[in-house]
Amino acid sequence: MTDTDPAVDARAVDPEVLRERAVASLVVARDRTTLLTSCVEDPDLTAQHSPLMSPLVWDLAHIGNQEEQWLLRAVAGHEAIRPEIDGLYDAFEHPRAERPKLPLLSPAEARTYAADVRGRALDVLERHAFHGTRLTEAGFAFGMIAQHEQQHDETMLITHQLRTGPPALTAPDPEPAPLFTGPSEVLVPGGPFTMGTSGEPWALDNERPAHRREVAPFHIDTTPVTNGAYRAFIEDGGYDNPRWWTADGWAHIRKHGIDAPLFWRRDGKQFLRRRFGVTEVVPPDEPVLHVSWYEADAYARWAGRRLPTEAEWEKAARHDPAGDRSMRYPWGDDDPGPEHANLGQRHLRPAPAGSYPAGESPLGVRQLIGDVWEWTASDFLPYPGFRAFPYKEYSEVFFGPEYKVLRGGSFAVNAVACRGTFRNWDYPIRRQIFSGFRTARSEDG
Ligand code: AVJ
Ligand code: FE
Repeated sequence: MTDTDPAVDARAVDPEVLRERAVASLVVARDRTTLLTSCVEDPDLTAQHSPLMSPLVWDLAHIGNQEEQWLLRAVAGHEAIRPEIDGLYDAFEHPRAERPKLPLLSPAEARTYAADVRGRALDVLERHAFHGTRLTEAGFAFGMIAQHEQQHDETMLITHQLRTGPPALTAPDPEPAPLFTGPSEVLVPGGPFTMGTSGEPWALDNERPAHRREVAPFHIDTTPVTNGAYRAFIEDGGYDNPRWWTADGWAHIRKHGIDAPLFWRRDGKQFLRRRFGVTEVVPPDEPVLHVSWYEADAYARWAGRRLPTEAEWEKAARHDPAGDRSMRYPWGDDDPGPEHANLGQRHLRPAPAGSYPAGESPLGVRQLIGDVWEWTASDFLPYPGFRAFPYKEYSEVFFGPEYKVLRGGSFAVNAVACRGTFRNWDYPIRRQIFSGFRTARSEDG
């Protein structure tokens, strides 16, 4: 038994490789931010498209401000460029709904500010040692800031999905799924596995430390639940039967008149949905998207199944039974490539169920990484030995029963912010996020 992390410890962590990776990750993130904030005119950047979201121009300046605080001030010891704006872009000072009324930087000012910070941050990155302090060890702060920008890019993509009006973004559709003849579920044998990581250099605090977890044998779906399968739940009166719902979930759907995933609309015999400004017939073979934890949980109960726990999900995604070790990804330790997973907003939708055979786990579970965030049964809690780093407001203040964990990342997540250990969380009512799920059952149940 060990609590170390062979998958990562065995890899040479060369600081010059990490430095190049940090530069590339920051550049890729900024290209995406630029796309998301230049594909619409200024009024769409300053408007609030949903009370759940910030104006896009807030995300843009907040990205620059976090980068300034961590890379220029904390790492390099610079003075604040514009100390008066820190409060405006502190996510804890102003809830999202209030942000449009703040004296925010204009789109032009926000672009100039973010670009100014970036120029200086790249100078710091070129020269700063990647050892000596915990913040810069293996380039952590630079990786953290690239991930932070990509997380806000996903947030901005959600804002684009909520925005009404003509489409502003386009991307090619994924390939049709190859013929998938595998079973609909696999048995994951019981026993301990290593959950979390201590060695992955840019893993965030809530993914740490690596620790052993005992997991009882269970079955898990080999693909995410599809629109077609979910529709059978709707047609069977799933939204009208309290039997499938938790008390809170039932109260919530009744109060808000929820009877289908977000963005769906019934049209005669079929369902239509609005997706980035285009209306289409809901494709039956695609993983279901924009469902709440309550909806995922109710579907699973209707199907005679349940959501996997977070530990079950991670064991299915990382454990290699042959070597009894946890890998970085379902397919092994290699960074994600386009053959493995649908990541990085390469497409504006999940790929059909059964896609990416090269990305499957040793037991044959597909699409664990990318496509849709997968709701798990678990509350967002710290691992044994958790230490907040570098700030409590990333994870620690959110630990507790009010948030449920999502795993695996969506088509909107960039590889730098996606790992087999990566943890996301949200309220169980939320469904504007790119959320779906797969189901599980205990071996005897
Ligand atoms: C990890 C997606 C829940 O957006 O609230 C961004 C990421 N934290 N800025 C969020 C985050 C600080 C976070 N989630
Ligand atoms: Fe943020």
